[in-house]
Amino acid sequence: MIIQPARRINGRLRVPGDKSISHRAAMIASLAEGGARLTNFSTSEDCAATLACLRQLGVKIEREGNEVCVEGVGLNGLRASLEPLDCGNSGSTMRMLAGILAGQNFTSQLTGDDSLRSRPMRRIIEPLELMGARITARDGRAPLTIEGTNTLAPVSYEMPVSSAQVKSCILFAGLNARGRTTVIEKHPTRDHTERMMQEFGVKIATKRRQEPDAESNIVTLDSVARFDARDLSIPGDISSAAFFIAAATMLPGSSLDIEAVCLNPTRAAILQTLRAFGANVTASAMRDAGNEPVGDVHIGGDANLAPLAENANELRGALIPQLIDELPMLAVLGTQVAGGITIRDAGELRFKETDRISATVANLRAMGASVEEHEDGLSVAGATRLRGAKLDARGDHRIAMAFTIAALVAQGESEIVGAECVGVSFPEFFQLLESVIER
Ligand code: S3P
Repeated sequence: MIIQPARRINGRLRVPGDKSISHRAAMIASLAEGGARLTNFSTSEDCAATLACLRQLGVKIEREGNEVCVEGVGLNGLRASLEPLDCGNSGSTMRMLAGILAGQNFTSQLTGDDSLRSRPMRRIIEPLELMGARITARDGRAPLTIEGTNTLAPVSYEMPVSSAQVKSCILFAGLNARGRTTVIEKHPTRDHTERMMQEFGVKIATKRRQEPDAESNIVTLDSVARFDARDLSIPGDISSAAFFIAAATMLPGSSLDIEAVCLNPTRAAILQTLRAFGANVTASAMRDAGNEPVGDVHIGGDANLAPLAENANELRGALIPQLIDELPMLAVLGTQVAGGITIRDAGELRFKETDRISATVANLRAMGASVEEHEDGLSVAGATRLRGAKLDARGDHRIAMAFTIAALVAQGESEIVGAECVGVSFPEFFQLLESVIER
C-alpha cells in the first residue's frame, strides 16, 4: 500500500466497536442463560475468530452486520468440538477461551496462526493447572490441549506479568470454580471483564492495595451457578481511535471529532499522555454503555508538541499496561515532540503479534529517525522530519496502522508492506482515514 503525506485531518467519524469488549461480550453471553443482542460488535477478524470458536462449541450465534445475537447455553452447556478451535491471530481469544474450557468436562484443542503459535502461554497454563485443569503445550506455546473439569478449585493467584488477558482467563475459569477466586495484579490492567461480569450480576469486586512504591489491584470473584443474559451496546474502540487522534495531533490545522469512544480509565491514558505534550484533546458528553464510560473526543491539531512537565517524555511503570496497544503509535509521535519520547518497562511489547519494539525501531530508522533500542522499550529523538520509506508491517495490524500515520507526516511517499493485516483489528481503517485526510 502506497501512502502519500497529508496536509491535515478534518472531519467527524465513529470507530468500530471495541475489540476487547466484544470478545468478552460474546463469551459472557454464551455462558449466560437466554438470548443477548450485542450491538456495534467489533468488525475485527479477531472477534470473528471468537464467534467461530464459540459456534464450534455449540453456541447458536447469528450475525447481521455489526449486530450479533447469542443464545446463551449456561455455564456448563458448551459441547466438545472434534476439530481444533482456531483462534487465528487473536491472543485474547486463545487466553480467555482457555479459562472457559478449563471448567468444562471435556477436552479441547486451541490453535492459531504462526504468530499466535509463537506467543507465550505458560502464563495461563500455570494458573489453570493450579485450579485443576490439565494442559499440554509445545514448549509453553499453542497448540494447547485442555483437559477441562467441572470440579475446578478456586485459587489466589498473583500474576507475574501485568496482563488483562491472563487476569480474564483466571476470572472466566473462576466462574466455574467452587468458591472465591482471587487475582492480584501488580499494575492495574484493563478491567472490561470485571465490569461486564458485574453487569451480568456476577459478584466480583476490586480493591486497591497501596504499597510503598506501587499500587496493585486485588480482584475477587465468587463462583455462580447461573446468570441471565442481557443486551449490550459496545462503545467505539479507543485503540483504533488512537491512530486518528495521533494523526490529527501531529498535523497542524487539523480538527477531528470521534463520537462514542470507550473512555474506560484503564484504556484512556493515551488522552492524558497527549495532553502532557500540549495536545489539544478533549472528551465530552460522558455517558454509560453496559457499565463502561463512553464519550466524544475532539482533537485540534494546533499543538507545538513539547512536554509541559519534567519527565513527561518518559513513559514507564504503571502507565505502561494502560497504554500497551498505543505504544508503537506513541513512539512514532515521539519523533514530533521536542525532546522525543522514552518508553521503558514495556518488555511485553516483544510478545505481541510481532516483536513490536524491534518492528518500531526498524521502521522508525528507515524513516530517518534517531532511535535507541532497549530490552524493555526504546528512546526516540525529536523533533525530527521523517522521510517516506518502505515500511514492513511484519504481519502486525498495529505496526501497519502506526506507520501509515507516520507516513502521513513524512516527506515523500511511503510503502506499507503487508498493510492488509489491519483487518485483524480494524478492517475499515484505510477507508475511514481517506474520508478525513486533506492533502
Ligand atoms: C487485551 C489485553 C492486552 C492487549 C490486547 C488485548 C485484552 O494484552 O495488548 O490487545 O483484551 O485483554 P495483554 O493482556 O497480553 O497485555
